[in-house]
Amino acid sequence: MQTTELSRRKVPSARIHLRAPRRQDGADVWALVQGTAGLDDNSMYCNLLQCTHFAATCALAEIDGAVVGWVSGYIPPETPDVLFVWQVCVSEKARGQGLARRLIASVLARDVCSDVRVVHSTITEANKASWALFGSIADSLEADLNRQPHFERDDHFDGRHETEYLVSIGPFERAALPLRDAA
Ligand SMILES: CC(C)(COP(=O)(O)OP(=O)(O)OC[C@H]1O[C@@H](n2cnc3c(N)ncnc32)[C@H](O)[C@@H]1OP(=O)(O)O)[C@@H](O)C(=O)NCCC(=O)NCCS
Repeated sequence: MQTTELSRRKVPSARIHLRAPRRQDGADVWALVQGTAGLDDNSMYCNLLQCTHFAATCALAEIDGAVVGWVSGYIPPETPDVLFVWQVCVSEKARGQGLARRLIASVLARDVCSDVRVVHSTITEANKASWALFGSIADSLEADLNRQPHFERDDHFDGRHETEYLVSIGPFERAALPLRDAA
């Protein structure tokens, strides 16, 4: 693998394995997301769809067969140059080692993302770890990061959820990405 800025972090344990999900992973992914404070709950059915129909743009990290990291994403049909990152989740024991960055980088490096030049996600104002993660990715890609309210607390969530800000990173050069990654 060619090591570039986005994948430069060495996760110390060689036991961490990144790969695309399979249908058998759906329940484990659901359990990881369900057990992570601050993430919206999904139905297990939703995670099963991500692990099947959207497997090409999702990735998981495992240690000795246990799922410790997850990123779900998709390429919106009307914007083939955009990877929308839906959820990123790393178990507490595996945080702070660059794993979330690696998960996103591994998806971006895939052939299915060959036309992707922009990364989108949505983040609530208070999610400092997420802002730091996407800021770090923007820095690595030497790309601009813009934000604007997207799903708003009162207009869209009926007051039941904090406003989600659309984060847009890019456009970036494909040369900034790893040529290959572990997934
Ligand atoms: C957000 C999350 C996925 C980050 O996972 P991680 O593997 O620890 O992140 P990384 O190690 O790849 O860190 C990426 C960057 O973010 C920074 N960062 C990560 N967590 C941080 C925190 N709590 N506070 C400040 N900065 C943080 C890192 O320092 C790093 O920045 P750098 O490259 O400039 O040094 C993880 O904290 C998590 O699962 N949180 C709960 C779920 C969540 O909120 N997900 C995002 C919304 S969908």
